[in-house]
Amino acid sequence: MTAVDAVSIITAKRDGGELSDAQIDWVIDRFTKGEVADEQMSALAMAIVWRGMTRRETARWTAAMIASGSRMDFTDLPRPTVDKHSTGGVGDKITLPLAPLVAACGAAVPQLSGRGLGHTGGTLDKLESIPGWRADVSVERMREMLADPEIGAVVCAAGADLAPADKRLYALRDVTGTVESIPLIASSIMSKKIAEGTAALVLDVKVGTGAFMKSLADARELATAMVELGTDSGVRTVALLTSMDTPLGRTAGNALEVAESVEVLAGGGPADIVELTIALAREMVALAGLDVDPAAALADGRAMDHWRAMVKAQGGDPDAALPRARHTEVVRADRDGVLTRLDAMGVGIAAWRLGAGRARQGDPVQFGAGIEMHAKPGDSVTAGQPLLTLHSDTPEAFAGAQSALTAAIDIGDLDQKTAPPVLLDRIAR
Ligand code: URA
Repeated sequence: MTAVDAVSIITAKRDGGELSDAQIDWVIDRFTKGEVADEQMSALAMAIVWRGMTRRETARWTAAMIASGSRMDFTDLPRPTVDKHSTGGVGDKITLPLAPLVAACGAAVPQLSGRGLGHTGGTLDKLESIPGWRADVSVERMREMLADPEIGAVVCAAGADLAPADKRLYALRDVTGTVESIPLIASSIMSKKIAEGTAALVLDVKVGTGAFMKSLADARELATAMVELGTDSGVRTVALLTSMDTPLGRTAGNALEVAESVEVLAGGGPADIVELTIALAREMVALAGLDVDPAAALADGRAMDHWRAMVKAQGGDPDAALPRARHTEVVRADRDGVLTRLDAMGVGIAAWRLGAGRARQGDPVQFGAGIEMHAKPGDSVTAGQPLLTLHSDTPEAFAGAQSALTAAIDIGDLDQKTAPPVLLDRIAR
């Protein structure tokens, strides 16, 4: 009989052992109740970072985190549910055009999202830049919005009862250098998505300098772990691996990204955003069992109609002017040539320093702050041409943003013209 107490669980994992189901259930349950101390859970998380978890351990860890709270159920809705989760990147505003687009195709999209921390922005922060828009929606209202054929999508904050073990654990991992573990990331994301009650899920697993996963091999491993966790729990799950070496689209920052998303919904917008939105929408619609072409629903304005209804249903005014930062500063090309690199991490850190992101949970964000990109990798540029416009309410932030950008931009010779691909791979079971 294996001992069940915090120290023996920590030492078992520290020494490379495999935890039993009973040990996993016990430690997650007691941690949620505050009976396993934060320093003990942090030590266990660090042991997992080093020693990993088997597929069985990861599945049990995920199930225990789901069981720490309540599981939502949308099986009685008149439309099939399908959601998308991105592992996070710079300029990743895809949820904004995607949720109403998939709703316009006939699915219900229940998306519980988070606020940003560090260099990647949070979907709720972006939407909160729309005057009046509120992230808090009751479960009853969520159900009404999902069932309404004119809305069909809701993007809102997760309630306190959704995988509370993960909330506590993620806050600890964030400050103890224990985020970067494939089993911990996979179980953290999938516990929330499975508890959310969606019947199908498309994962956008980011790969590159601005992502958790820097290599394609690691991203494949994470995607495979999440697809297995989802499928084994009865959630039809597919993952796309997509590039995050350079920011998505031409804006990074809350209100700037909302404006760009509205351009996409109006039939314009940057090619990479449109390509990824359509690719994810096709996967979602197929998983939902619907025979509809999302490209048509984007082109004929149905997705825009759903966006407007969705924003209004959460108190927002889709026609209101978005907040703008009080100050701007322009970064220019220092030579003629081709922009060969615009590093996602550098741009993300710069946008964060400008005020678009927060350093600590609960800090306010500046809705108008961020970066507009006038050129993307593969574009020809001439000396003196504006490459970026920095936006901030706090002009003293420009120096810190500029210093994050100095090593993030490379201009090469004209024969180096290549626009990097967005879609890298697809993982399904
Ligand atoms: N996002 C999550 O929700 N959890 C992680 O561990 C990493 C990213």
